[in-house]
Amino acid sequence: MIHNYFPTVTQILPEMYVFTLSLFVILVIQQISGFKEPECSRYHYEEQILERVVRMGMELEYQKKDVTNILETVAAKLNTFSNELQVLKRENKELKSNLKDEVQISISDLEKVKEKTVLPLVFFNSKNVADTSIKTGHTIVFTETLVNDGNGYDNTTGIFTTPVDGTYLVSLHMCVKNKQNLYYGLVIDGKDTLRGEMYEYRAYSCNSVQQLLTLKVGKRVWIQVYVKDVDLLQSGSHWNMFSALLLNKG
Ligand SMILES: *[C@@H]1O[C@H](CO)[C@@H](O)[C@H](O)[C@H]1NC(C)=O
Repeated sequence: MIHNYFPTVTQILPEMYVFTLSLFVILVIQQISGFKEPECSRYHYEEQILERVVRMGMELEYQKKDVTNILETVAAKLNTFSNELQVLKRENKELKSNLKDEVQISISDLEKVKEKTVLPLVFFNSKNVADTSIKTGHTIVFTETLVNDGNGYDNTTGIFTTPVDGTYLVSLHMCVKNKQNLYYGLVIDGKDTLRGEMYEYRAYSCNSVQQLLTLKVGKRVWIQVYVKDVDLLQSGSHWNMFSALLLNKG
C-alpha cells in the first residue's frame, strides 16, 4: 500500500487554524503594548561612537582655535610690553644722563662759587738758620718749618713759592749780635721789594719787618743778605723767623 506522507486538507486545517490564530494574537499584543524593536543594535552603537568621535574632533578643533587665539593675544601683549619696556629703558637712560649732566653742572657751579669765596689756607712759618754766619749775596734759609699749609715754603732753599694769586702778608723776624749790621732784602723773583738794615751797638736784640704784597701764583719770595757778611744771633730766646700768610684771593 502507498503510504500517504502528506496530510490531507481536513487533517491539516485545524492546525493551520491554530497557528494563524496565535500569530494574530501575538501581533495584537505587540500593537497594544507599543512594543518596538530595541535600538541597541550593533550598527546603531557604532554609529553613536562614530558621531561622538566626530563631535570630539570638532570640539578639539574649536579648542585648538581658542588656544591659538589666546596665544596670539598673549604674544601681541608681550610684544606691546616689550616695546613699552624698551621705551621706558630709553627714557630711563636719558633721565640718568640728563641728571648726571645737571649734577655735574651743579658741581662745577659750586666749585666756581667755592673758588671765588673760599680762601685757601696758605701759611708758612719757619725758624732758625743752619749757619748763623751768612755771606753777602746769600739767601737766608730758615730750616725748622713749624707750619707749611699750602706747601709753599722750601726749607732747603729758603724760597717761598706762592700757591695762588693773592695778597700776602710777609713777615721777617731777625736777631743780630753786638756791632753787627744786617743788610737785608725781601726779594721776589730776583727783584728787591724791600730793603733795610738792622744794627746793634752794645746790645743783642731782634726786630720784625712786615710787608704786604700782591703776588701772582708761582712767584718766588726769599730773604737775601746784602752789603756785608753778617753773624746772626740765635738762641732759645732769640729766634730768626720767616713767614707768610695769604690774606685775600685775587
Ligand atoms: C723741612 O721741610 C720738610 C717738608 O715740608 C719737612 O718734612 C721737614 O720736617 C722740614 N725740616 C725741619 C727741620 O723742619
